[in-house]
Amino acid sequence: MRTVLAWAMAAMLLGAGATAQTVTVYTDRTVRGLVPILQAFQQETGINVQLRTFKEDVLDRLLDEDDQSEADIYITASIGNLDEAYRAGLTQPITSPALDARVPARFRQEDNHWYGVTLRTRNLYIRTQRSNDRSRITYDDLATPRFAGQICIRSGKHAYNIDLIAAYIVHYGREAARDWLIGMRENLARVPQGNDRAQMKAVADGICSIAIGNSYYYGLAHSNLRQREWAEQIQLVFPSFPNDGTHVNLSGMAMLTTADNVDAARRFMEFQVGEIAQGIYNRELHEFPINSDLGSAQIYGMPVNFVPDSISIQQISNAQRAARQLVDEVQFNDGPQGS
Ligand SMILES: [Fe+2]
Repeated sequence: MRTVLAWAMAAMLLGAGATAQTVTVYTDRTVRGLVPILQAFQQETGINVQLRTFKEDVLDRLLDEDDQSEADIYITASIGNLDEAYRAGLTQPITSPALDARVPARFRQEDNHWYGVTLRTRNLYIRTQRSNDRSRITYDDLATPRFAGQICIRSGKHAYNIDLIAAYIVHYGREAARDWLIGMRENLARVPQGNDRAQMKAVADGICSIAIGNSYYYGLAHSNLRQREWAEQIQLVFPSFPNDGTHVNLSGMAMLTTADNVDAARRFMEFQVGEIAQGIYNRELHEFPINSDLGSAQIYGMPVNFVPDSISIQQISNAQRAARQLVDEVQFNDGPQGS
């Protein structure tokens, strides 16, 4: 029911000339934020966009519909989903100098089956009055006794944390990552729980002074009456890996094998990583440009400074399994064990 409503709304908003070309986009993202981008695309190109949002797994849907699917493009907030679609043979590679120029190589699939659209940092929420001396924290610092009893985080098994741990493994290897995880576990103020927003609340409530969460929740919290109170008590701090940058996860897109108008679909994808769309993603959803040449990262007009880590999303993806094993091995979700 929800899906049908969302779809009806999107179709209505986007209007439709019967004769024009149409690109059909499947997404599990919320419509908000996407619609102004689709409208801008329609205005610029005259190509209609039919947006279909699904609460359920888009991948299952695509597999069910098989070659009968009318989907041309898949947009999702998780590269893991795109990689699964790729491995299931649902995506097709694209030749596009514009995409190659705008999306850094480490943020796209090596054979051009999927592309990142926006960056989302996995950063720290820190109590405002304590953030001055803490602007230069590294991810390593989180495991040092300096932060004993001060850290909040959601389950170590959540995809966002798995990716962060996988990135650590890529940088320093499994053994170092194990020590790091144990150190961080010992610094936890409470057993891992809740989502990223709940970590923001925990910092605001004084349960911990530092939490690990994604950047855009902080931006989104400002437009929610209750959450704004939490956000007002914290600042975003962007830790980095020593001699490298801040860990990011991506939203992304892929062209599906069922795309019947490849040229229109390619133009749509190019538009997603153009300056207009990247600006809307930043303003509406508080996600950051995939490439700093496409615009500066801001949250409510405040410039945000971070350097994205240099390792590739593919490398992170390859280390996810090892990361999951480590979380179990050190019993991260059980919290401090006094060892
Ligand atoms: Fe999220």
